[in-house]
Amino acid sequence: MTNSGERDGAPRPTALVTGGNKGLGKEVSRRLAARGMSVLLTARDEERGRAAAAELAAEGGDIRFARLDVTEEKSVRSVAELVGASFGRLDILVNNAGVNGVVRGERRTLDEMSVEMLRSTLETNFVGAFALTQALLPALRTAGGRVVNVTSALATFARTTGSGPAGRADLIAYCASKVALNMTSVLLADQLREWGVTVCAVSPGYVATDMNNFAGTKTVQEGARTIVHFATLAPDELPDRAFLTEDGVAPW
Ligand SMILES: NC(=O)c1ccc[n+]([C@@H]2O[C@H](COP(=O)([O-])OP(=O)(O)OC[C@H]3O[C@@H](n4cnc5c(N)ncnc54)[C@H](OP(=O)(O)O)[C@@H]3O)[C@@H](O)[C@H]2O)c1
Repeated sequence: MTNSGERDGAPRPTALVTGGNKGLGKEVSRRLAARGMSVLLTARDEERGRAAAAELAAEGGDIRFARLDVTEEKSVRSVAELVGASFGRLDILVNNAGVNGVVRGERRTLDEMSVEMLRSTLETNFVGAFALTQALLPALRTAGGRVVNVTSALATFARTTGSGPAGRADLIAYCASKVALNMTSVLLADQLREWGVTVCAVSPGYVATDMNNFAGTKTVQEGARTIVHFATLAPDELPDRAFLTEDGVAPW
């Protein structure tokens, strides 16, 4: 990877997307690059990550690849060092990597749920996003950057305690991990305001991806559009401490 690209003498804005090899992360990377940003597409699987980055780079964007498993401390540290050395700043961090904490094709009851799965889901969706954000703080502060945490409507108390159907037992891990991410988004926004860094939690809607066996009702293009909208909104236009959706602010 070479030094940050320049456009008309000014450095390009820079973005890092986690879980960029497929689904929403790949489409968000595509859209940020199409807006003229230098995008570091990261993924835990080197081969699939490189293939996605090469495919998007062939479309003309400035897309580079770095391996990143958000649950591995060493991997997080090495990507943060890479960003510092190569870009020196980070304008947008999209914490998109996530797992749904269920076994594909199986619907487990409360008794059958594995505590290990609970741990690993929290580790990826919550701890991983926090650890990466923390490691990237110097670059985010330099840029007055934006952190976008990709969350879910399943993790809102408004929906869960509303009149809808009861949630699935085996989605407890997923919902709890995203609730933790939601609260972290608000607390980090408060902590980082003085540095000019803005933080938000964005729900892309129910999107057809691998995560739900392509059962979602929205396309990745629609979901990614919502994420990129809030990733690139001017700081003074970004709703503060809000749960953000395609339709704007929704109850937590
Ligand atoms: N689809 C929806 O309806 C929906 C709704 C609300 C929120 N979301 C959120 O949107 C985000 C993207 O999900 P998606 O729907 O695009 O699903 P997806 O296609 O399954 O993509 C998930 C991505 O996360 C990556 N990932 C998982 N664990 C990781 C780790 N430890 N380190 C780095 N990357 C890791 C996956 O990599 P591998 O390919 O290596 O597994 C994959 O690239 C998730 O946070 C999800 O919770 C999705």
